[in-house]
Amino acid sequence: MDEPTTSWTVVELAPADTHALRLEVLRADTPTKQVDYPEDVTPGAFHLGVRDQDGRLIGTSSWHPRSAAHRDRPLEAFQLRQMATRHEYQGRGVGAAMIAVGIDRLRYDGATLVWANARDAALGFYRRLGFAVVGDGFIDQATQLPHHVVELTLL
Ligand SMILES: CC(C)(COP(=O)(O)OP(=O)(O)OC[C@H]1O[C@@H](n2cnc3c(N)ncnc32)[C@H](O)[C@@H]1OP(=O)(O)O)[C@@H](O)C(=O)NCCC(=O)NCCS
Repeated sequence: MDEPTTSWTVVELAPADTHALRLEVLRADTPTKQVDYPEDVTPGAFHLGVRDQDGRLIGTSSWHPRSAAHRDRPLEAFQLRQMATRHEYQGRGVGAAMIAVGIDRLRYDGATLVWANARDAALGFYRRLGFAVVGDGFIDQATQLPHHVVELTLL
């Protein structure tokens, strides 16, 4: 197989554009195969992807307004969901590039917090990007994988 390209671009996606990569990366080993969620089309939701120089989708991420249940006072919060980088491109900065563009957009829109239910296997990624791990771990019902809440304050 060819070496993965090092040239890519962060792009905005329609919800359905995210489904194939979600299935490939996030649903390979999970009991659930769901990739289409009502939150994907809530007002204010947006989806950021990364395309390589041939236009192939190599990263996907979804962001939607949702107050953080673990916070005791309301904030202008967004939940980050369904973060995935195509396997052969992982560890090359694709995920970090999507987060950087998403956070710029949230700051511009006046959001003050971004949070996620993060797989424990990905906690190092979120910590590396400045997120804090909050509270006790839990098993996500749909995936049956251990998770923690992570959050990043945007003030
Ligand atoms: C987690 C995931 C989205 C990260 O995307 P990525 O494109 O591989 O991440 P990046 O290359 O941008 O990594 C940014 C930094 O985090 C580090 N990092 C990435 N994944 C990590 C992990 N699982 N544990 C520890 N550090 C990690 C990278 O080494 C890099 O550090 P550096 O700046 O020192 O080089 C990707 O690995 C993935 O799709 N994993 C499988 C699906 C998954 O778990 N999704 C998250 C669900 S919550």
